[in-house]
Amino acid sequence: MNLKQLPGLCLIAISTLLPVMAVGQNVESNLQNEFAKKAIDNGEQRVYVPSKENLQARKEFEDKRFGIFVVWGFYSVAGQGEWAQTRSNIPFNEYTELASAFYPSRFDAKDWIDLFKEAGAKYMVFTTRHHDGFSMFDSKYTDYDIVDATPFKRDVLKELADECHKQDFGLNLYYSHVDWYRDDYPTGWSANEYANLKKHDDVPYESYYKFMNNQLTELLTNYGKIGAMWFDGVFDHRRDSMDWHFPEQFDLVHKLQPACLIANNHHRQIQYGEDFQIFERDLPGENKSGFGTAGGVSELPLETCQQIINGVWGYHVNKMNCKSPDELIVMLTETSGKGANLLLDVGPRPNGTIPKPAAESLRGLGKWLNKYGETIYETDKGDISGNWGSSTRKGDRLFLHITHRPGNELYLPLGCKVKSAKMFIGGAPVKFDQWKHGIQLQLPEATDGEPVMVIELTTSK
Ligand code: GLC
Repeated sequence: MNLKQLPGLCLIAISTLLPVMAVGQNVESNLQNEFAKKAIDNGEQRVYVPSKENLQARKEFEDKRFGIFVVWGFYSVAGQGEWAQTRSNIPFNEYTELASAFYPSRFDAKDWIDLFKEAGAKYMVFTTRHHDGFSMFDSKYTDYDIVDATPFKRDVLKELADECHKQDFGLNLYYSHVDWYRDDYPTGWSANEYANLKKHDDVPYESYYKFMNNQLTELLTNYGKIGAMWFDGVFDHRRDSMDWHFPEQFDLVHKLQPACLIANNHHRQIQYGEDFQIFERDLPGENKSGFGTAGGVSELPLETCQQIINGVWGYHVNKMNCKSPDELIVMLTETSGKGANLLLDVGPRPNGTIPKPAAESLRGLGKWLNKYGETIYETDKGDISGNWGSSTRKGDRLFLHITHRPGNELYLPLGCKVKSAKMFIGGAPVKFDQWKHGIQLQLPEATDGEPVMVIELTTSK
């Protein structure tokens, strides 16, 4: 029996659950109807009903607005980014040998979390296993991990998790579905002659799938509360050419930690079990990255991941073209203005430290957030954006982040009535005329050295 035969029952099941959903009820009920409809249209049997804890966690996640993405593995020894194995043409046996040269002697979890907090971030995403298949945590299901295969022998994830929990800093985990190491991963397009190609036709996907699920069980059992699982890698196989069995895997994650959010970096429409939507190097709905807009913009929480050093995620010894604090500030205001979190990537060095230019830009962003954080954290998408900048909203307060001062006047076609306007810092009143379809602001002189002019409106909304 499939859902086509059961629409009534399914919708009844959903509607009985809805009253207990304390957070984002309307949004979630729309979402559930959307899922139910989709499932009915496709004749699928599954309808994902997020738990109460999960809905609460989504809200908390959105409120954080800014996180740090740490893309780190022993590939940092090669200093050519996280795709070094296949893109820098390192023979498979030479690549795996690099693990024995990975000794991040200056790694200190506290230093990292202190820096990320100083930057104003509220959570981090750590790469537990990237496409090279190397586990950056102690896994009993492989020896190709940081404890067994490197002289360092320390479970850096454990140290990070302890520090995050101690400092009440969110910990989310990146996990790639791609694997260039194991014999049982069904080879995809990203593998070339530098990946392990002694494979696979006779090996059923089930063996690799079981391995991943075992590791996910370790990650969600041994490291305390995990805010989210951040999956990556579906790009490796053409759409519909492979059944990854995600629904069961995502059910496992939610069974182990019901509040743990799931996101999958696939640039497609939200699928069963996913709790937030990822945009890679794009604001929601844009397509500067070239990954397309097929996923649309869902009602779920949104997160945009961006590189702090242009062109790379993992450490690259030749690339230090770092975004300035001002660029980061503008990026954060634009991202929040779209109602999305900004996940900003750093690629630590092989010695375990964060490259200095990245650390300095992060500190600069943190100084700005110290002053203006109230206009970013716990805000909603703003009512309006344009060539001049963007906005965020908190109740009846609308914060304008003016990044390109258009001159002395700014016309904003707002759908609400404006009661007052003032500079966010200092509170000096800003003159404005209320017109029928908006307001005309008389902008104060730009303040030297400030990358963004922040004006607070109180509105009728
Ligand atoms: C892509 C890349 C991967 C990177 C990730 C970050 O999937 O393959 O290397 O870590 O994007 O979004």
